[in-house]
Amino acid sequence: MILVFPDESWEKAAMDYRQSYLDAGEAHINGSSGMERYPVYTDWLGQIRRLREAQSDGQTPATTFFSVEPPSALVVGTIQVRHRLTDELRRSGGNIGYGVRPDQRGKGFAVQMLRLALPFCREIGLDRVLLDCRADNLASQQVILRCGGVFDSEDWVEDDWGRPERICRFWIATE
Ligand SMILES: CC(C)(COP(=O)(O)OP(=O)(O)OC[C@H]1O[C@@H](n2cnc3c(N)ncnc32)[C@H](O)[C@@H]1OP(=O)(O)O)[C@@H](O)C(=O)NCCC(=O)NCCS
Repeated sequence: MILVFPDESWEKAAMDYRQSYLDAGEAHINGSSGMERYPVYTDWLGQIRRLREAQSDGQTPATTFFSVEPPSALVVGTIQVRHRLTDELRRSGGNIGYGVRPDQRGKGFAVQMLRLALPFCREIGLDRVLLDCRADNLASQQVILRCGGVFDSEDWVEDDWGRPERICRFWIATE
């Protein structure tokens, strides 16, 4: 597996990735900065490029990658690294978000993808990264633990619709 920066050349594979979530009835594409909301690929590219440069007080730069299994050009996952922890991200969201294409789950891709993202985190100066997931998301918890995650805390936060959700937080050292 490799991580690649999305660019214009990935349009077809990216739209296929997006469609696979819609076909599976999933409303959210984790680790993609809301790709589900962008029917036009270049609009989404503009959004993730802007995020890489974000510098305002309340926002942190964020880098989004596709994970790809060569020699196929299939995008199997998206993973986003938030370069700094804002108060909001410390509470919910953390440094890293990720998702694997619904029809490619259970093949170890999330573990590979997260492991590959850790050297990048180190390069941008993060000695450790905070990750969180819903307390009932056993698959994601297992991914985090497989990558060296150490439990930090469990908490109630509000989801995107303002409903309470139980989350678990973990730290992963980047070396
Ligand atoms: C969570 C997610 C990324 C896992 O991706 P994946 O590629 O299927 O995960 P992997 O194949 O690398 O599996 C990692 C571990 O989780 C375990 N696992 C996978 N699905 C599981 C499930 N439904 N319940 C319990 N454990 C599960 C696997 O057995 C494996 O453990 P092992 O190495 O001990 O065998 C994927 O299910 C997904 O995209 N879900 C929707 C988005 C999401 O929840 N993102 C994370 C938000 S915090």
